[in-house]
Amino acid sequence: TWTTATFVEESIREIRAQVGDKRVLLALSGGVDSSTLAFLLHKAIGDQLTCMFIDQGFMRKYEPERLVKLFKEQFHIDVEYVNARERFLAQLEGITDPEVKRKRIGHEFINVFEEESKRLGPFDYLAQGTLYPDVIESADTNADPKSGERVAVKIKSHHNVGGLPKDLRFKLIEPLRKLFKDEVRKVGRSIGLPEEIVNRQPFPGPGLAIRIIGEVTSERLNILRDADFIVRQEINRHGLYGELWQAFAVLLPIRSVGVMGDQRTYAYPIVLRFIKSEDGMTADWARVPYDLLELISNRIVNEVKGVNRVVYDITSKPPGTIEWE
Ligand code: XMP
Repeated sequence: TWTTATFVEESIREIRAQVGDKRVLLALSGGVDSSTLAFLLHKAIGDQLTCMFIDQGFMRKYEPERLVKLFKEQFHIDVEYVNARERFLAQLEGITDPEVKRKRIGHEFINVFEEESKRLGPFDYLAQGTLYPDVIESADTNADPKSGERVAVKIKSHHNVGGLPKDLRFKLIEPLRKLFKDEVRKVGRSIGLPEEIVNRQPFPGPGLAIRIIGEVTSERLNILRDADFIVRQEINRHGLYGELWQAFAVLLPIRSVGVMGDQRTYAYPIVLRFIKSEDGMTADWARVPYDLLELISNRIVNEVKGVNRVVYDITSKPPGTIEWE
């Protein structure tokens, strides 16, 4: 029977046998898969592992700092923080089409990844947090005709991305490829991954950029980040974080009229998207208490400059998707 202890033990043995004294690169996103993988690899090969964390500027408030601090200071795992905020923002200038947005983010991710892995490398292996469901569906890896080993043609956490450039073909190592998500969580927990990462709600690769409808600008990013932070605070305070599959804010590019004191306002609306789901394939909008909605609405309108209205999304999936883009 499957136990986390035997899985961890066997994985460590396999990783050591495969990697030998070579170097491994891992693109760390902060999600449970790549974080568990980082912990497992670190246990197996120590400082032969380099984690690269690319900050696109689309994460939630304080998360990049927290993540880097946690990994470096608390767990002494080598994390290279790459600040690419300006580059990603420049790529999105004037872009409103969701698919173009995703593509541009994906391409820029590859560009940054390529440059940085050259700078930090050379590396022999690229570690990916591929899970069993990805393997079943997968058309995203090829076998190297010579060695038969799987090689990367796509970066997993950004599933709308094209191929990695030819001269960047690493050998792949995918220690989580036989696991389901709940098993990854168990493994992560058993090797010391903190609960805040083990229980993290899913967060899309393109991050807040696909939760800003229309053009992404630094002004809009700041507004959404602040509104999203209030959402997270109140969801946590009310003990709902673990109960909801996701709870987040979306910023719309339209403006509507409001009144603040005796002043007319003309500002953006924020959409609250709180959902329950088993696997993200289908989802129900969450029936949370009205008082909580009122509290969040009041806080956002009062504390976030540029927002004067909050609405609640009561669309399930299908027919709605979870994200708005
Ligand atoms: P949708 O919007 O398709 O989302 O109902 C289903 C689940 O997938 C997440 N999602 C993504 N995750 N990269 C990711 O890693 C992406 O580009 C992406 N788009 C959506 C979404 O948050 C939800 O949990």
